[in-house]
Parts: sequence; C-alpha cells; structure tokens
Amino acid sequence: MPLREMPPLEVPRSYARWALSQGLNRAVLSFASRRGDPLAELMWSRDMPDYSRLRARGAIHSNPFMAGTVSYAAANEILRSSDFGVGDGQGELPVPLRWLLGKVSAPDALGPVDPPSMLAVDPPLHTRYRKHVSKAFTARRISSMAEMVTSVAGDLLDDLDPREGQVDIIEEYAAKLPIAVIAELLGVPDSDRPDILRWGDQAAAILDPGLSWRDYSQVEAAMRSLHHWFEDHVRRLRSDPGDDLLSALVIAGDLDDIELHALGLLLLAAGFETTVNLIGNAVAALDAHPSQRSLFIADPSMADGVVEETLRWDPPVMATVRQAYVPTRVADVDVPKGTAVAVLLGGANRDPSVFADPDTYDITRPNADQHLSFSAGAHFCLGASLARLEARVGLRLLYERYPTLRVSGQGVRRNTRILRGYSHLPVSW
Ligand code: HEM
Repeated sequence: MPLREMPPLEVPRSYARWALSQGLNRAVLSFASRRGDPLAELMWSRDMPDYSRLRARGAIHSNPFMAGTVSYAAANEILRSSDFGVGDGQGELPVPLRWLLGKVSAPDALGPVDPPSMLAVDPPLHTRYRKHVSKAFTARRISSMAEMVTSVAGDLLDDLDPREGQVDIIEEYAAKLPIAVIAELLGVPDSDRPDILRWGDQAAAILDPGLSWRDYSQVEAAMRSLHHWFEDHVRRLRSDPGDDLLSALVIAGDLDDIELHALGLLLLAAGFETTVNLIGNAVAALDAHPSQRSLFIADPSMADGVVEETLRWDPPVMATVRQAYVPTRVADVDVPKGTAVAVLLGGANRDPSVFADPDTYDITRPNADQHLSFSAGAHFCLGASLARLEARVGLRLLYERYPTLRVSGQGVRRNTRILRGYSHLPVSW
C-alpha cells in the first residue's frame, strides 16, 4: 500500500496553534534566559547542562513564568505525588487562550504528549490505559525478545563496513537496533520502515519547548503523516492481525481507534528516539573515559553498570513537567495551585546528596540505578526493561566484537533539547 505523505494543515490554524503554544513559550523562554534566569537558560540551551547555578537556588526555583527543580528529593516527590499531574500541557496559559487553543486543535496533528496519549493523561484514565497496555507488554513478551535483539544486533555488526575508514555508529547501529525492535513490536512491515523512520526523526522535536514556526510546521506535517499511517495500519491489523503487541491490543478491543493511534504513536516515538540516544551516549561516554572503557572491555558483564551509569550521567530524556493541582508543599517549599514545574531528570541525577561525586562517570557506581531517567510514579517508563535489554545486549556485543573501537571524529549532537543524544558519531577500530 503506498504511504500517504500529508501536506501541512491549512496554515492559519496551524500558525495559531504554534503561536498559542510554542510561540508564546519561545518568547517567554528566550526573554527569561536573556535576563540570566538559570532555569530558563537550562531549558533553552543545547549545551551539556551545568545544573550548579539552579541547584544553588534551592529545591524548587521559581521565576515569574515557571518553576523547576534539580533536587532529587523534590523531583522524586513531585513525580510520585497525587497533588501533581501531567496537566493538559497548557497549564501556564490563561483560560481564554486555552479555550482558543482548543478551538484550533486538530486530531490528526496530536503528538505523543497530547491527550489521549498515556503520557498526557492522569488517573483514572491513565490507570485504564496503563492496565490495557501492561497486559500486552508483559515481562514474558520482553524476555522473549532477548533472542531477537541479540540476533538483530549480530546481523547489524556483521554489516558494519569499516573499509571507508570509519563508520557512523549512530546511523549504522545505535538507531537501527531499537527501530528493528519497535517495528517488530508494532508489526510495521519492512517496506514502511524508511518512511516511518524519516517521519519519526522529523517529529522528535515535538517535546522541545519554544519551537520556531518553521520547525513546528515540519514537526506537525510529520505527525500527520504518522497519524494517517497508523489509521491504515490499525485497519490492516484488524483484518489480518500478527502476533505483535499492537495486534494484541487491537484484538483485545479495549481501546478505540483514536486511543490506539495515540498509543502506537507514543510507543513508536519512545522506541525510535530514546534507546538510540542511550547507546550513542554510552559509546561517547566510554570513549571520553578510557579507564571505564578498559574496565568494560575486560569484563563485558559490566554492561549493566555501563547502561545505568550512562542513564544517570547523560540521560536520553532530560526533563518532564508536572502541574500542581492543589496548593501544596514540596521539600519545604510552598507550591501554589496551577504551578507548572519542570522536573529536570538530568539535574536530579547529579544531586550530590544522593550520588557521591555526581559529575564523575563511574560504571561501578553502586547506586547508579537510582537515577530518575525513566521518571518515577504513575508514568514510570513502560519500556524501561526493553530499553535496558536493548542497550545491554547492544553495547556488550559491540565491544566484544570490536574491543578496539574508538570515536574517531567529531560527534554531532541532535538539535533537540528534551531528547539528548547524537545524530552522528564516527568510530573506527
Ligand atoms: C533509554 C530509553 C528510554 C528512556 C530514557 C525513556 C524515558 C521515559 C520517561 C522519562 C518517561 C516518563 C515521562 C514522564 O514522567 O512524564 C517515559 C514514559 C514512557 N515510555 Fe519510555 N523511555 C525509554 C524507552 C522506551 C521504550 C523502548 C518504550 C517502548 C517501547 C517506552 C515507552 C514508554 C511509554 C509507553 C511511556 C508512558 C508511560 C506512562 O505514561 O504511563 N520507553 N519514558
């Protein structure tokens, strides 16, 4: 079936959506960051964050526009507290603007952080979605994927061709492994994978605050193409189900079509855009820390340590947001009702009161797995075991096969802010 590439939505509505959400956010963030606010600077910058200025402001720092935390205790409490929820993503907008935004919304341009995506709804609706998905996303299904992950990783390593002198480990390995896994989980036919990959890459910036109109319109067009692909795909699975996870959810019949599209889109985005960063960030971190690299090469069973410490030290998802539903108090700080708090997961992972010498990359760190990189509480990452499995197997096989592997050129970071990883990382051996 030919894939449908969707044209952008009619420009005025799309522009109104951008202006009310991203445009406003962009103006606020760039204004506050120009005025030297440490929270806005962190949310606005694409550099390796330095959390120390924000940490010095206390457990929760507020400016006139937003609040944020890099304190482990505060982040953990907020993520687990029923005083907070995911809001509707527009908590900081005045009511008339929210109403207007509702008027210009488009069901086929909704992203993985818009309702009814699981990430964007609170209990009891969230509990209902989570229950249905967990029924299909079982530990048995995940452990049965170990063999497949090992075999895909082995095939990809066989195909790495260093004859050109070097290989882009992101394009040729770190991206291909999670894509193969998520495509299997969602029953994506081989022939559709290149298009899905292109749209997924274009849509990845959707999580970033304050996108430019140009980036937003590209993201929205990609999102619409994905929605329409899911429409066709779910219809196809309904008449000809496979033994993949999405087919299991379609057959169970507990979710309607819009809910299935939202979930499919979220799984696709999570599967495409996160684990690749974990594998890439681990290769870069090991290379920058030769003693840690040598430890791992001498003992490949330390792959767990590499994965957990990389998640802590250079997390693929930097931040999330929660909104206070009631006036509340966190880490001895009053938080007024309605406050949107940026929970900087990467900052919490560097909290010296939990992680000794937090800026040091140490694959033997005993409590590295206490990081918040998969979040905590109701929205704790549903794919955490799968991501860990992929990264553990992927890294172990990579360094077993090529123990002399080194980064051999300048890596290029993705231009996204919330998702952190490399788009290119040349290696040779
Ligand atoms: C290293 C890889 C990954 C990282 C760092 C990561 C990180 C996260 C984070 C931080 C959240 C929660 C956000 C919040 O609290 O607002 C989340 C949620 C989620 N993740 Fe992941 N993720 C990864 C891989 C995956 C994979 C491979 C899948 C699925 C195949 C997946 C599926 C999900 C789903 C469905 C949710 C929503 C859970 C809910 O709302 O209840 N993730 N992930």
